[in-house]
Amino acid sequence: MSTPNNDLILRTLRGESVERPPVWMMRQAGRYLPDYMKLKDKYSFFERVQTPELATAITLQPVDQVGVDAAILFSDILVVPQAMGLEVQLIEHKGPLLPDPIQNATDLRRLHVPEPTEELGYVMDALRMIKSELAGRVPLIGFAGAPWTLLCYMVQGKGSKTFDEAKIFCYTQPELAHTLLDMITDTTIAYLRAQAAAGADLVQIFDSWGGLLSPEDFHTWSLPYIRRIVSAIKDTCPVIIFAKGAWHSLDAMAATGAHGLGIDWCIPPAMARQLAGDKVVLQGNYDPAHLLNPIPVIQKEVRAMLTAFGGHAHIANLGHGILPNVPVDHAKAFVETVKTWTA
Ligand code: CP3
Repeated sequence: MSTPNNDLILRTLRGESVERPPVWMMRQAGRYLPDYMKLKDKYSFFERVQTPELATAITLQPVDQVGVDAAILFSDILVVPQAMGLEVQLIEHKGPLLPDPIQNATDLRRLHVPEPTEELGYVMDALRMIKSELAGRVPLIGFAGAPWTLLCYMVQGKGSKTFDEAKIFCYTQPELAHTLLDMITDTTIAYLRAQAAAGADLVQIFDSWGGLLSPEDFHTWSLPYIRRIVSAIKDTCPVIIFAKGAWHSLDAMAATGAHGLGIDWCIPPAMARQLAGDKVVLQGNYDPAHLLNPIPVIQKEVRAMLTAFGGHAHIANLGHGILPNVPVDHAKAFVETVKTWTA
């Protein structure tokens, strides 16, 4: 396989010292980009996700238009529950809806562990197409949801501030919950391996709702499954764990052998470094809402953030996904400030 021309993020994740931190933005392919909105007007969400030509065009938009140092596959974490047998809809202005969520043992029997190269073959087709279109310009990030975050949607059936139904499912039917988490984990391992084989240079595990769990619950319902995924993948390609809000477990996440850990804006970089130890790369952590500030403020704050991370073992990113109302110029200013920064 040819080495990408810009391999800053890969060198950073290998622990090498680099000229400057690499930069990308979570959810960088999305609604703040006018060209994304044009395709959104024409095609449904799952048409965009399942058509390799559309997924490729959308994946490349932030590379071409914002200048990020990595592409991330345009897809969604919910394609995994879909491939396992659950119906997933995306309702405009409302978010995901799974009309027949998992509530009991009978529901669980509707699920299976899919063969990703077949049932998620469109993802592999997209990755191969993106890889060829990128022609080595920047590395390609694959991803999957963490088992706990996927369980949240599969049991609650929709987005939620508390995911209380998912939690009570775990607390009252623990055996069933662990069986479901095991099935998601098996699927995810095969899925991420297939992504790497199809061209993903590194992968990120999104545990967007990890921070809803107490530290003890995180160690019961999330971490063991993430650990199993990392163990199975880390010798194939670099792995970043992003468990939003789960700063209390940075040490345990570093101990999984993951190459990078994502952090949100609620923890100062120095504190995250202290908790995570010296070896792992940290990724983050600009508050996405701060991208609504005037550009000079963004520049000043981003430089302060880079200084706080110290210029090594750091991937510059937001602390969560970019918001749809961010002006493209502001996203560009974020990226450009990182690219022109010197320690
Ligand atoms: O980062 C990227 O640019 C790649 C694309 C990507 C999407 N979803 C596209 C998307 C990625 C990495 C995701 C991951 C994802 N999906 C997560 C984890 C990351 C996070 O933000 O916490 C989660 C929790 C989901 C589930 C999901 N998908 C939700 C809650 C929603 C609705 C809310 C929203 O942001 O609109 C989606 C839909 C979705 N996934 C959209 C996009 C661009 C918006 C729908 C649209 O544009 O039509």
